[in-house]
Amino acid sequence: MRDKGRFPHFMIKEIFEQPQAVRDTITDNLSPKTGRVELAVTRRIPRDASSTFKKITIAASGTSRHAGIAGSYMIEELSGIPVDVEYASEFEYGNPITGPEYLTIVITQSGETADTLGAQRLAQTRGSRVLAITNVLDSTIAREADAVIHTQAGPEISIASTKAFGAQLVALYLLAVYLGETRGTLSDEKVSQVVKELLALPDRIEKVLAQNDLCEQLAKRYYKMDDFLYIGRNVHYPIALDGALKLKETSYIHAEGYPAGEIKHGPYALIDEQVPVVGIATRDLSDPQSVLRAERTINNLREVKETGGRVIAVATEGDSEVADVAHHVITVPKAPELLSPILEIVPLQMLAYHIAVHRGVDVDRPRNLVKSVTME
Ligand code: F6R
Repeated sequence: MRDKGRFPHFMIKEIFEQPQAVRDTITDNLSPKTGRVELAVTRRIPRDASSTFKKITIAASGTSRHAGIAGSYMIEELSGIPVDVEYASEFEYGNPITGPEYLTIVITQSGETADTLGAQRLAQTRGSRVLAITNVLDSTIAREADAVIHTQAGPEISIASTKAFGAQLVALYLLAVYLGETRGTLSDEKVSQVVKELLALPDRIEKVLAQNDLCEQLAKRYYKMDDFLYIGRNVHYPIALDGALKLKETSYIHAEGYPAGEIKHGPYALIDEQVPVVGIATRDLSDPQSVLRAERTINNLREVKETGGRVIAVATEGDSEVADVAHHVITVPKAPELLSPILEIVPLQMLAYHIAVHRGVDVDRPRNLVKSVTME
C-alpha cells in the first residue's frame, strides 16, 4: 500500500485501487450467511433507535462532505429520513438544531480533521448520537464517536482523496439500505436486488478504469485551460463538486461544480471555448425520474455547445443521444441511479490526475495542502 508499485504517483495508484476499496467495504458490511446488509459498526447504535431518528445531519469537510451530499440523496430515497448536510466548519461554530432524537453522521477519511472533530463534539454536547464513517479506526474521531463504520480503502497517501471517496459512497449506500430495511421502506426483494447491484460495482469500476487512456488524451487537449465548469443534477451534483475540487487541488486550475439547472442563473455568462464544461449525464433507463433528470442535463449541455462552449460528457454506455451534445464522451456501465456516482467520479479523478501531470505539478503533494487538516 505504501509503495507506488507500477504507478508513477500514489494518486493514480489509489484511483486504480478503487475496485478493491469498494469490494472490501461491501463485504465487510454484508452477511455471508443471509446476503443482507449487516453493518460492521463498532459500538452499535441500538436498532430500535435507528428506526426512530427524526432527522439526520451530516457534517464533514472537503471531499468527505461531497460524499455526504451523495449520501443524503441515498438515505432520503431509500429510508425516507430527512437529511441535511453541513460544512463541519460551519456546524461547529453555529447553533445547530440537534438533540437525542437526531442522528449526526461525520464522514472523514483521516478521522483527525479538526473541524469535523469540533462538529462531532458539539453534536454530542447537545445530546445527539454520532456515527462516524472513517478510514482510520485508530483515530480521535473514531474513538469518540458513538458508533463507527470503517471504510476499507486502506492507507491513502496522495493528498487528493480518491479511493477513500469511493469507499465512503459505498458505506453511505449500505447505511441507506440498512436504514430502509430497519424502517420498513425497503422490501426484502428490493434489498436482494440492491445487494446484487452493489456486488457488481467493482467489475464496473474496472471497466471505467480501462478508459484511462481516453482521459489522458482529453488532458492533453485541455490542460492549458484556466477555468472549468462541472455540472450534475441530484445525486450527480456532488460528483460535479468533487470533480471540480480534484482538478483545482491537483492542477491549480480554477474549477467550479454546479447543479446543472443553476448554470443558467449566472455561470452561463462564463461560457466560451476557453471554459470547458464537464457534464454528468448518466441515466438509469428503468427509473423515469433518472431519465427525466438526464434529459434536462442533456438540454443544458446542448445549450452550452450551441453557445460555443466545449463539452465533455460522462454518459451511460450505449446512450447515443449524449454524443450529439458533447465534443467528447466518457462512458460508464449501466447502474442504478444511486450507485452511478461511484462510477462517475473515477474518470473525473483520472482527468484531474492527467491534467496535473501535464502541467508539471507535484500531483501527490499539491502546494499549500496537507493530508489531514488537524489545526483550525
Ligand atoms: C480533497 C481532500 C480534502 C479532504 C478534507 C477532509 O481531495 O482530500 O478536501 O477531503 O480535508 O479530510 P478528511 O476526510 O480526512 O476529514
